[in-house]
Amino acid sequence: MSSEPLVLGIETSCDETGVGIVRGTTLLADAVASSVDEHARFGGVVPEVASRAHLQAMVPTISRALSDAGVAADDVDAVAVTAGPGLSGALLVGVAAAKAYSVALGKPLYGVNHLSAHVAVDLLEHGPLAEPCVALLVSGGHSSVLLVPRIGGEQITELGATVDDAAGEAYDKVARLLGLPFPGGPPIDRLARDGDPAAIAFPRGMTGAHDPPFAFSFSGLKTAVARWVEARQRAGEAVPVADVAASFQEAVADVLTAKAIRAAREQGVGHLVIGGGVAANSRLRALAQERCDAAGLRLRVPRPGLCTDNGAMVAALGAQLVAHGAAPSALDLPADSALPITDVLV
Ligand code: KG4
Ligand code: ZN
Repeated sequence: MSSEPLVLGIETSCDETGVGIVRGTTLLADAVASSVDEHARFGGVVPEVASRAHLQAMVPTISRALSDAGVAADDVDAVAVTAGPGLSGALLVGVAAAKAYSVALGKPLYGVNHLSAHVAVDLLEHGPLAEPCVALLVSGGHSSVLLVPRIGGEQITELGATVDDAAGEAYDKVARLLGLPFPGGPPIDRLARDGDPAAIAFPRGMTGAHDPPFAFSFSGLKTAVARWVEARQRAGEAVPVADVAASFQEAVADVLTAKAIRAAREQGVGHLVIGGGVAANSRLRALAQERCDAAGLRLRVPRPGLCTDNGAMVAALGAQLVAHGAAPSALDLPADSALPITDVLV
């Protein structure tokens, strides 16, 4: 093995077939094949369609990543794969592929947690993470505030999570009711730029004095948006879509950043990391920067392309595990659709 491990990472937890190649903390390739267009007309990811698309895309995407990185399969020192959480059938395709490459190449296998990988990926862009740090993880299926002692090292502690919808899920549902395409985050983000974030005072869920400080709730916000839009429509008035998008987005970004920053302060850490698909959101990024500056915290958010699902994040976490001497996973590694956020390695 050369000084730093060359790790191949495979991600198939949802609708992106991602294959990343990393040497230590250096990103060499990030190939992604998405089946999102095949799901769009259903308004959400159809698990069977995603699994079949992963199967078709897997080998070509691995070949593309190897050629982009300019390395041969034999050069790979370890294979990392998302073992969960995610869609069972989709995860199975990635885990089976990773096992096959691991056996064929005679290299160790690391089954990793998709959510930890969303946090780890930032080290490819901004160098090693501070230890410990607080992480805000915001994706299509999860929204949590985490205390991360050492990425790839000790267990992660969940300080709080959503009690109902995830932030990304709220974006997707609100987009649907506004007649915007799936996934809803990008079109709402774009539309909101032409809207007034203060136009409508949407509720900030879970921010009462007696609410758990790091828990989230976005289902009431989604209902509030639906009611507001319906009332307009019933009155025969036009719906100011850009204002609705901007006001909804402001409510999400306000709550997420306020709670994450409070957690960092209470934990006495100097760094906040934001990861997951919703971390690509322009308003969340801007507001987090503004509030971290005011609180004297260092903010780290990967570039938008590394926030949404990809294989580079899996390879990045795999390389940390190899570097810390973690024991590889067993070859009968299961795909665990409900893998707890605290389990970094399976
Ligand atoms: O992390 P991710 O790619 O997949 C999961 O692990 O779930 O996150 C997908 C979620 C979707 O709900 C999508 O609407 C949201 O991330 N998303 C965004 C943006 N880009 C993607 N939400 C808000 N603003 C964005 N720019
Ligand atoms: Zn994800």
